Amino acid sequence: MKLIFHGHSNIEINTGDYTVFIDPFISGNPACDIKKEDVKKCDYIILTHGHGDHYGDTDFLATKFGATVLATFELAVYAEKKGHKTHQLNLGGGFNFPFGRVKLTPAHHSSSTPEGNYAGDPAGVLVSAEGKTIYHAGDTSLLEDMKIIGETNNINYAMLPIGDNYTMGIDDAVKASVYLKAENIIPIHFNTFDLIKADVEEFSRKVESIGKKCIIMKPGDSIDI
Ligand code: NI
Ligand code: MN
Repeated sequence: MKLIFHGHSNIEINTGDYTVFIDPFISGNPACDIKKEDVKKCDYIILTHGHGDHYGDTDFLATKFGATVLATFELAVYAEKKGHKTHQLNLGGGFNFPFGRVKLTPAHHSSSTPEGNYAGDPAGVLVSAEGKTIYHAGDTSLLEDMKIIGETNNINYAMLPIGDNYTMGIDDAVKASVYLKAENIIPIHFNTFDLIKADVEEFSRKVESIGKKCIIMKPGDSIDI
């Protein structure tokens, strides 16, 4: 499985024959390394919630590639009304897709469509494929549920927001990495905008000081896991 970071919370996953985007915020994302027209393949889009910096270019990609949109019920219905193929999930539920298993986890945040309408609950995402499990926290505060997520899943790579203001900041994200028992921590959702500026080196030092590996990905960076 290959992970490519496209800035903010936008993660591209390549696994087997499939290309999956989590929160494909490309247009209007000052941290993004690509243009939406550069995307060559997109089979599935996983959305953590409906905010514009996560829903992003879902409409463009789903229309162009016929990608299936995976989201909590209300957000999936919204995408379906736009004419996209969708798969409705909800918190605590998982499903085996051709590329791997996706399970949604609780996240403590809010969610609305880009137009500001109700979009159900926000979620975190577990993706298991090729013997590895990754966790994308979406936008969330630190929450005790992360202990359960860590106890019930062997998370190899955890992507955690560290930008503060709208989500966890550095110290809460360090605590989250302990709760999640994850080996490798990838900071996301920081430095995209002034409001979420964060010292990623400080985060890295704190994560490494508790015996975990911090992988700082610059937009465009990829890792094979
Ligand atoms: Ni949000
Ligand atoms: Mn956000």
